[in-house]
Amino acid sequence: MTLKEKYKDYFKIGTAVNVSSIDTHAKLIKEHFNSLTCENETKFSNLCENKDNYNFMWADKIVDFARDNKIPMRGHTFTWHNQTPKWVFENVDREGLLKRLKDHIKVVGERYEKEFYCWDVVNEAIEDKGDYIFRKSPWTEIIGEDFIDYAFRYAKEILPTTDLYYNDYNETQSPKREHIYKIVKSMKERGVPIDGVGLQCHFNIYSPDKDTIRRSLELYAKLGLKLQVTEMDISMFKHDDTTRITKPSKELLELQAKAYGDAFEVFREYKEVIDCVTLWGIADDCTWLDNFPVENRKNWPLLFDEEHKPKEALLRILDF
Ligand code: G3I
Repeated sequence: MTLKEKYKDYFKIGTAVNVSSIDTHAKLIKEHFNSLTCENETKFSNLCENKDNYNFMWADKIVDFARDNKIPMRGHTFTWHNQTPKWVFENVDREGLLKRLKDHIKVVGERYEKEFYCWDVVNEAIEDKGDYIFRKSPWTEIIGEDFIDYAFRYAKEILPTTDLYYNDYNETQSPKREHIYKIVKSMKERGVPIDGVGLQCHFNIYSPDKDTIRRSLELYAKLGLKLQVTEMDISMFKHDDTTRITKPSKELLELQAKAYGDAFEVFREYKEVIDCVTLWGIADDCTWLDNFPVENRKNWPLLFDEEHKPKEALLRILDF
């Protein structure tokens, strides 16, 4: 039984892909997933490192693969403090930057309108902790905090039938969780055209626990919007743990299977609001966590192992 078949009455099962993995992991992608996200290729800096010089070669390669295999795509991401080229913020005032933002959404959004069923319009604009709710970035410094509203309004005007998401991480942690809820709620009340909230879910085998995930989903569900899990993986290490291991022990793999099992159990409880659950990668031979937060340290956060074989975690989420 494949993931997408097992979950067909619940939500789509997605994965993040890159220009290499669509070849090296093609079999697993086609078998198990019915939503794809470009891991990097549709970010501002990957598409337009130099002003007025878009290069769609890599993104197109992935979109062609998705189209050939009839897999819908989610767009990631129009507006982010990270992976946005320097020129965007140079020699520009508020009005000028708003125009650059709108032009970018138009060029990229329209190009992929047929294939992309949703977009992360704004990514990670809320602070993790502290007094500020909005993350300080060139977007807030040059435009102001209302850059978020503008991004969604432009996206709606250009892509009226595409679902528009706000996407963020540490989404189960307080006070960030409440801050995300509050900001999105106020957007809705102001009539900003937002359709959903993307919960990245970069977890580790120790946290968050099932109750925390459930409490978080309960809160976000109150928004009356769609929810998506957008970038899930479960690291073998706590965030501040810098140890290295050569291979995960049976105990660690079991903790990971339990963490995936618990999370998916809660996701299934919220099937009415969850539209898609996306894993941030396919198999353990290709994961951003091999370089974060410790450079060049092997990690094993996904559902298939380095040889593309099913892990205990996969079996656990198929067992219900
Ligand atoms: O392509 C270059 C390569 O030419 C160069 O030799 C190499 C040396 O550093 O770097 C390569 O680029 C890297 C790129 O990934 C492709 O592998 C960048 O350094 C590296 O910074 C970049 O990391 C990406 C990261 O976003 C950037 O912030 C990860 O792949 C990607 O998984 C990660 O994804 C983000 C989501 O977009 C948003 N949420 C968090 C998530 C994890 O950080």
